[in-house]
Amino acid sequence: MKAACLSLIVAALALSACNHSAPQAVAPVAKTPAPAASAPKKAALFVPPPESAIPSDDFGKQVALGRQIFIDPGRYAKAYVGNALSCENCHLDAGRLAHSAPLWGAYPMYPAYRSKTHDVSTFAARLQGCFNYSMNGKAPPQGDAVLVALESYAYWMSKGEPIGVAPPGHGYPKLPKPAIAPDYTRGEAVFKRDCALCHGDDGQGQQAAGRTVFPPLWGTQSFNWGAGMEQVNNAAGFIKANMPLGRGNTLSDQDAWDVAYFMDAHERPQDPRYTGSIPATRAAFHDTPESLYGATVNGQLLGRGVAARP
Ligand code: HEC
Ligand code: HEC
Repeated sequence: MKAACLSLIVAALALSACNHSAPQAVAPVAKTPAPAASAPKKAALFVPPPESAIPSDDFGKQVALGRQIFIDPGRYAKAYVGNALSCENCHLDAGRLAHSAPLWGAYPMYPAYRSKTHDVSTFAARLQGCFNYSMNGKAPPQGDAVLVALESYAYWMSKGEPIGVAPPGHGYPKLPKPAIAPDYTRGEAVFKRDCALCHGDDGQGQQAAGRTVFPPLWGTQSFNWGAGMEQVNNAAGFIKANMPLGRGNTLSDQDAWDVAYFMDAHERPQDPRYTGSIPATRAAFHDTPESLYGATVNGQLLGRGVAARP
């Protein structure tokens, strides 16, 4: 309880400290009756500055460009994108939404050691990873204008946060292990009931006028076998908090695990680290129960990959 109150106070201070234009913002907080009794159990979430606060100077231009790239990388970072997804499809509200791996949850936590790469990744290197795998594209080189803009956007959004302290709402939620092992057939039923309306019966999403309206969940235009969303626990956490869109946290944990398993038991573009053999690639990069790469599900050997572009 003490820790929760403390972090609330810290968050309130941080907010008022960066809110130069509204010093009176502190007053309503003081008037709130009986703060100890009515304090929410969950720690306060960081509130990133509104888009309208992006400055119009040269730095602000990079921030605004970073936001555009994040929302529509197929247009603003075309050379590095190999599918129909945008960053925002998995990092909702232009990277602002808590529990959907927001940029303000990530920026203060790098450089960090990552077991995926066995090294300390800078924030720029982390951005490169999402191009290689989630976007099934290729990483912009260090110092590239695309990385400069994305990094400026994330830095601007994180202003006022402590460095190296994982903010509440960062990443995707970690769901408790399911009561019964995730299952393809049950997942398929959840998919038909709660997902197919938008993502299509075949999971291929919907396009209108060359733009993705509902993103594909598998197949040639989706994330590849090296992406974080390929791990069933990551997908289950994202889905539980954010899907069906607009009705987050309405699925049971078991439904979220089952539908994540169903989604991740479909073919998608090959892992770019493919060694030439599925078992060897599994041993090198997918040696976890959370990955279905190299497993046989529903009679299909997974990990054969589908070509990204014709
Ligand atoms: C298919 C979904 C998907 C897409 C598309 C996607 N990402 Fe990600 N991203 C993830 C997943 C999954 C993680 C890991 C989240 C976790 O560890 O909780 C992640 C992590 C990140 C992180 C680190 C988050 C943290 O808290 O450490 C950053 C930064 C990031 N992505 C940026 C981007 C950018 C920029 C793009 C577009 C170029 C992009 N992502 C596209 C799924 C996606
Ligand atoms: C009302 C429409 C709608 C429904 C229903 C819906 N989604 Fe989504 N989903 C979206 C949209 C739109 C996005 C992209 C969000 C954005 O860009 O802001 C998305 C994004 C996603 C993503 C990340 C992007 C990708 O292609 O991998 C996954 C995974 C996902 N949805 C899974 C599901 C699952 C599983 C269900 C069913 C439990 C579901 N969705 C139900 C509209 C929907």
